[in-house]
Order: sequence, then C-alpha cells, then structure tokens
Amino acid sequence: MTDSRQIQPLILAAGKGTRMKSGLPKVLLEIAGKSMLGHVLDATSQLESALTPIVVTGFGSNQIHKAFPGCAFVEQTEQLGTGHAVQIATDKLPEGSLVLVLYGDVPLIKSSTLEAVIDAALSNGFGLLTVHLEDPAGYGRIVRDADGKVTSIAEHKDASPDQHKITEVNTGILATSASNITRWINQLSNHNSQGEYYLTDIIAMAVAEGISIQTAQPTDQNEVLGANDRIQLAQLERFYQSSLAKDLMAAGVTLMDPNRIDIRGSLSIGTGVEIDVNAIFEGQVTLGNDVCIEANCIIRNTQIGDGSQIKAFTHIEGATIGNNVTVGPYARLREGSELADGSKVGNFVETKKTKLGEGSKINHLSYAGDSVIGKNTNIGAGTITCNYDGVNKHQTTIGDNVFVGSNTAIVAPVTLADGSTVGAGSTITKDVEKETLALTRTKQSQIKDWKRSTKK
Ligand code: UD1
Ligand code: CA
Repeated sequence: MTDSRQIQPLILAAGKGTRMKSGLPKVLLEIAGKSMLGHVLDATSQLESALTPIVVTGFGSNQIHKAFPGCAFVEQTEQLGTGHAVQIATDKLPEGSLVLVLYGDVPLIKSSTLEAVIDAALSNGFGLLTVHLEDPAGYGRIVRDADGKVTSIAEHKDASPDQHKITEVNTGILATSASNITRWINQLSNHNSQGEYYLTDIIAMAVAEGISIQTAQPTDQNEVLGANDRIQLAQLERFYQSSLAKDLMAAGVTLMDPNRIDIRGSLSIGTGVEIDVNAIFEGQVTLGNDVCIEANCIIRNTQIGDGSQIKAFTHIEGATIGNNVTVGPYARLREGSELADGSKVGNFVETKKTKLGEGSKINHLSYAGDSVIGKNTNIGAGTITCNYDGVNKHQTTIGDNVFVGSNTAIVAPVTLADGSTVGAGSTITKDVEKETLALTRTKQSQIKDWKRSTKK
C-alpha cells in the first residue's frame, strides 16, 4: 500500500505483432489516425500526477523511440514474458510511486477506467482490471475463493478444465506500489506451460502476503480489447468511430448515418450542424454553428464558420473558411486557402495559398494559387492563375469588384486593380489599372459564305 498519488505508467510494448504482417511494430499501427501506443499515452496523460511513462520496447524500438520522444524507454531484446518485461524496468520505477501496468496494444482504455484501478490500488494495495467475456478463451482467468476473493490468475494454457469455465478474465492492466512490484517480480519463475515469466503470478504472491486484490471493471469491454490482427484492429476502429459518432449526436449534431463518419483527430462543433454520409475529418477541424457538410467530403485541419455549406465530394485541407460560405460540389481547397464571409467556390475549382475576399466568387473550373483576391470580385469559369514559371512561384493580386472573364490565364506576378475587367479568353501578363478593361484576345474575323467540307 502506498499513500503516494505519483502514478508511474509502465507500458508493455515489446511484442512484434506477427499477425499484423506489418513492417511497423504493432503499437505504431493506427486507430483513428493515431498509433495504438499514442492512444494509451493519451489516456495516461489525463491522469492526475502521472510521471513520464516508461515504455518497454523490443521489435522496432527505434521507430517507437522516434515517434514518442517524450517517453522513457527500456529495451527488452528477448521477449521472455510479461513478468520479464516488467522486471527489466524495475530499476527505473521511482520509489514510493504507484506503478500502473498497461499494454501498448490495448488502445481504447479510458482514463476514467484507469482511475478506478488506481483508486482500488490506493485503498487496498493492489488494483486489477478484469472483465467478463462471453468467450474467455486465450485469456488469463481470475480465480476466486469461496468468499469471492481473488486468489490467483490462471493462464489459459496452464488452467484446469474447471478454471477454463471461468468467464472473468485478466485485462493485463493493474496497479500496485513500485516496492511491491520489485519484490515480487524477482521471485518469478518460468516453470509453466509456455516457459515464460508471467506477470500474472504476482497476484498469488500478493495474496500470500495478505494483500487483498481489488478488481475494477471497464464501462465497456471494447476498452480492454487488444488488437492482435488486422481484423481486430478494424473492429476497434469501428467501435471507436461509433463512440465518437455517439458523442457528436449527444452534442446535437445531425448525422445522416452514424456508421458512415470517420474522425481521425479532433472535431469541434457548434450547434445545428448537419453531416451527411462518408464525411472524413482529419487533424483539427472546427465547424461553427449551422454548418452543413454534404456527402463524401474530406476535411483536414480546417476551420469553417457559421452557416457555411460544404457541398458533396469536396476536399479541404489547411483552410480557413468564414461565415455563410459555399464550397463545392467537387471543390479542392488546399493549404492556406482563406475564404472570407459570404464567398463562394464552386465545382472543379482548386485553390492554394489564396485569400478570397468577402462576397467574391470562383464558381467554375478554375485554379487560384498564391493569390489575394479582394471583395465582391467575380472570377469567371476556367480562370487560371499561372503561378509557377517552372522554377519559382509568383503572386497574383486581384482587387475589389474585379470581373475576370472566362478562360483567362493570369500570368503571375501580376496585379488586377480594383474595379478592373478582363475580357474572356485573355492572357494577362501585365498589371491592369483601376476601372480599365484588359483584353488580349485577337479580333474576330469573318469569312462570308464559308462552305464546310463535305464527305467524298
Ligand atoms: C496476457 C496475460 C493474460 C491476459 C492477457 C490480456 C500474462 C502472463 N498473461 O496474456 O492473463 O488475459 O494478457 O490480453 O501476463 N509483452 C512484452 N514483453 C514480453 C511479453 C509481452 O512487452 O516479453 C507485451 C506484449 O507486447 C503485449 C503485452 O505485453 O502488449 C501482453 O503480451 P501477450 O503476449 O499478448 O500476453 P498474453 O499471453 O495474451
Ligand atoms: Ca500472447
């Protein structure tokens, strides 16, 4: 028993994950765009007085170290069992701390559940997270005496036929003091059917010392499921997405189908938001009040203001969109696109590093790159800012109330001043002055009584 509230997370992550058939160590495989280990670390970081997590790595150590520079690492070159993994980390456990053991491949564990395990350990000396499974095969079984007290854990391969009937299983997540762990871990042997050092053997050691094991349960069993193959990984992904969808609906969002939304990052939303099917949100996305996202949109690291509408099949990345803006269908806004209030970007339009002023429109089939466009300007169909000379990128500046006719090439660097007009089909290579008409197309000529060729 410890009085300390200093929690030392110890995450076992040395396993290769052979069944994933991946070049990456298993714990770097992702759920909702974040590695499994990243999810576990997020849960521990939400705990009060959590110390720097210690992660036991083996396969792909270097990749894991690079991905998580903020962790402390212990290398387990040979995987001799969960007990061995903890043993090699014992000299890193701060004296007086409460050690919380987690698995790197059990990603959906919630910090509230971890709190319950910690509370159990703080009051009784040993907290153990267990769960009742319909099919407990493969798991360590929780063995209790006639009074219902936990006496030991029997690993599936070592358990008796009677013990196989037990449906309460070990999740692997436990908490006890650093001094307890260190004392017990050094007494482990590998005389069992797998020839491994079982961390689970410390349960019986604790009981032998008169410590009573207090168990806690997760709110949802998916929280404690591990991902050992691609099928399980996909199942955890679906469970996670469906819980995010439920959170959104609880917050008042209309989801046309909660099974067809994917959030890989964080999505914050205002009131009255509607999201149609197959929307994918990545990174940090913010939707204001009354935003409507139509079907099949991908939106990444973007802010969208109140009342704006993103029409179907639109891709947006790194954009800032004001209020009452309409985008799409089939638009592509790339990094650095800033659309001011009331502006419009229509179908088959691509923008990049472009500011579109209030009330301005680029409605059809255009490319605006490295440009600043003023207010109430209309960019006609098929307008291209020629921003790249093959080596460097150049800026286009278009003022307020400009009218650019269709099929215009604007060769940057160039400026179209306020109130100017560009005739359709022009190629603009020189600055256009205020309130003037620029026109570069050749004069139309006519040949009278022209006869088209006929078939011979
Ligand atoms: C373990 C438990 C079992 C429990 C189950 C829950 C033991 C002996 N058994 O079984 O009671 O029901 O988890 O999923 O603890 N690891 C290392 N180094 C090693 C061995 C494992 O880091 O030498 C890591 C793995 O990468 C994994 C975790 O520990 O993240 C669990 O290892 P695993 O082999 O999956 O444990 P099980 O045999 O399934
Ligand atoms: Ca195993």
